[in-house]
Amino acid sequence: MCGIYGFIGGGKVEELVNGLKKLEYRGYDSAGIAFAKNGKLFVEKHTGKVDQLRNFLDSDLSLRINAGIAHTRWASHGIPNDLNAHPQMDCQHKIAVVHNGIIENYIQLRDELEIEGHIFVSQTDTEVIAHLVEKYFNGDLLEAVRKAILDLEGTYAIGVLHADVEDEIVFARRKSPLVVATDGKRSYCASDVTPLISSSRDVVFLEDGQLAKLTAEKFEIFESSGKAVEKKIHHVEWSEKAAEKGGYKHFMLKEIHEEPRVISDALAGRISKNEVIFRELEGWSSNLNVNKINVIACGTSYHAGLIFKYFFETLRPFNIEVEVSSEYRYRNVFIDDRTLTIVISQSGETADTLESVRLVKSLGGKVLAISNVVGSTLTREADKTLYINAGPEISVASTKAYVGQLTVLYLLALYIDKTFGGDHPDIVESLRKLPEIMDNFMISSTETIKEVAEKYVGYTNFMYIGRGMNYPSALEGALKLKEISYTNAVGYQAGELKHGPIALLDEKFPVMAVAVDDKLHNKMMSNILETKARNAHVVAILTEGDTEALKSINDAIYVPKLPSHLYPFLVGTVFQLFAYYVADARDLNIDMPRNLAKSVTIE
Ligand code: AGP
Repeated sequence: MCGIYGFIGGGKVEELVNGLKKLEYRGYDSAGIAFAKNGKLFVEKHTGKVDQLRNFLDSDLSLRINAGIAHTRWASHGIPNDLNAHPQMDCQHKIAVVHNGIIENYIQLRDELEIEGHIFVSQTDTEVIAHLVEKYFNGDLLEAVRKAILDLEGTYAIGVLHADVEDEIVFARRKSPLVVATDGKRSYCASDVTPLISSSRDVVFLEDGQLAKLTAEKFEIFESSGKAVEKKIHHVEWSEKAAEKGGYKHFMLKEIHEEPRVISDALAGRISKNEVIFRELEGWSSNLNVNKINVIACGTSYHAGLIFKYFFETLRPFNIEVEVSSEYRYRNVFIDDRTLTIVISQSGETADTLESVRLVKSLGGKVLAISNVVGSTLTREADKTLYINAGPEISVASTKAYVGQLTVLYLLALYIDKTFGGDHPDIVESLRKLPEIMDNFMISSTETIKEVAEKYVGYTNFMYIGRGMNYPSALEGALKLKEISYTNAVGYQAGELKHGPIALLDEKFPVMAVAVDDKLHNKMMSNILETKARNAHVVAILTEGDTEALKSINDAIYVPKLPSHLYPFLVGTVFQLFAYYVADARDLNIDMPRNLAKSVTIE
């Protein structure tokens, strides 16, 4: 996820930086701007936050320009460095492009453009867009961008400026947001309304496949066919602070609602004809021909690792061990050349996880990292990395990153299984459909989850239970509630209750039970009856249509009927929303819970 801002109609360079600053929450590993003067393109871009860019610009901040585009980056392709920062340029340094999203076919496009003589200098997918616009430019910038986007597969919000076209800038979107506005003297475009509302509260949200041509006095919207479209003006009432959170009260809630998009981005470019492909692992497949997989992680990432194990075992029996990093690093572990170590860390900076990586490497083991932060320590020390491409997660409680981790881990399980001859087009297809399912689910069920959460807000202890793949979901649900609502919550395998924890239960100790219609549903229902017999109130996650279970529980949250392997995704979201609404009803500091840090860089 990155932030894009641009204006046309006259202003100071500093205004580009100020606009960018308001989008910094969308990405902050590098930042850059571009503007043109007298047919010459000026670009300034650097690793680091927007304030570092401001320092570099120094006296140029007061320069007057007609138009400019700006970008704050969260790397997806290419480590954060000055070359990979945006804007990216064409061969002649006439065209500047800023981009948010993932171009899935960029390798193929780059190869074709190189054969045609284009010279590439960065590792980004974005650079192909600058060269495509260069290729198609014939005096008409809108037309060149229109042709360029027809070649692109994947997701994008792009802004394009041409040094020879000083009275126009062009933007386009597919699946990454862009908002356009004008005050009649200047026109603006940005990734969200935050930098726009000081100029105009009447905005147009570009739709997928649309382009916007901005001139000083107005903007026009076009389909990718070139046909002009009528503008749908929205009047925005949000404050700047609310706009940053997309109108949500907290980043955590916003990030939960980004989950369908996160799944799409994690899948992007990794499925072809219902088969998983990982370009990142090309030439490395021999390291996947293993007979043992160790998974190492902490907290939420550890829970994602546990689900990976359960999922993999549905594909084939396999020797998989999942361990928390703070334990693993002190163990006398066995590793040989047929052991693969998968290390999961959203931040890529968790101290115990990094020490575990060093232990594995000192024993000659191979490390495959799953991370969200390009260029983080983990990704530099691992042999290979698969990025989840979730965009920055600001709330301390991990939500969308967890969903991104699950998505990549499922793909990885299918990919490894393929090296042993497995073929599961049905499962790949089910993953492809998941973003839409998740989206519909959130639209239809968030209010119910909120109501149930508000009903249980007065309780101080919760027991989360599940079986099989949904046992790790119980652990994760309990962790979420603990972290943000400071409520005692424990997660257990439902079958383990009678070996001790059931002694805790009474009418003051509610049970959160995952009882979806998988192969362990009947066993789960028996466990629920055991808790009911101790007078516990039971909130159950059930599959739509299961009315029979209502007799044995107090409150139900229904999820749609799915293939069993997909339930952990929706169950995870239910528990995240439940924890969120309990904490919100108590008016707690949800995005920054006490005693916690986003990156745990100490042991
Ligand atoms: C998740 O909500 C927590 N904040 C925490 O458990 C986190 O998942 C853990 O610290 C691991 O972080 P990492 O993925 O960045 O390594």
